Amino acid sequence: MKIKRAVFPGSFDPLTNGHLDIIKRSIPVFDEVIVAVLNNPDKKPMFTVEERCSMISLVLKQIETEDCKLSVDSFSGLTVDFARKVKATAIVRGIRAISDYEYELRMALMNRKLAPEIETVFLMAAVEFSYISSNLVKQIFSLGGSIDSLVPPLIETKMKEKLLNP
Ligand code: PNS
Repeated sequence: MKIKRAVFPGSFDPLTNGHLDIIKRSIPVFDEVIVAVLNNPDKKPMFTVEERCSMISLVLKQIETEDCKLSVDSFSGLTVDFARKVKATAIVRGIRAISDYEYELRMALMNRKLAPEIETVFLMAAVEFSYISSNLVKQIFSLGGSIDSLVPPLIETKMKEKLLNP
């Protein structure tokens, strides 16, 4: 039987409840989903790639299911090259609002040009997550606002630890 393996690429600095919602929505669609953390040397992230992978791995353990194998990996370079390397046939991206669509469409069409055999699949995040982004979460957190409904509890704990021990 053909395995429907997908990659869900992103920066995940940090993983938000919006990302988690997309991961949960991908479970009934795919046999296997690899959350792929981009190693982007141009950006100054809050968490290292290793930290992000380890945090995501713990969150994935909490939603473990027989229906879909969930894992996390990191990559550098092109998403399609990583997808080909792991033999994935789909790239999952979450759409929060119409404002995401233009950028996501351009990226999906460019990825299709680069790798026609890989399909981008857009999943719509739940409305209650439509305003959440990693950047806003970091901004609110750094200014002392509450982020407890914006990220999984484990991520909030790690963010607090990071604040104490940068
Ligand atoms: O979480 P983000 O920052 O919205 O994720 C963007 C990401 C990582 C999916 C995108 O920047 C990406 O795919 N980068 C890898 C380089 C690449 O493949 N570029 C061509 C995309 S058309």
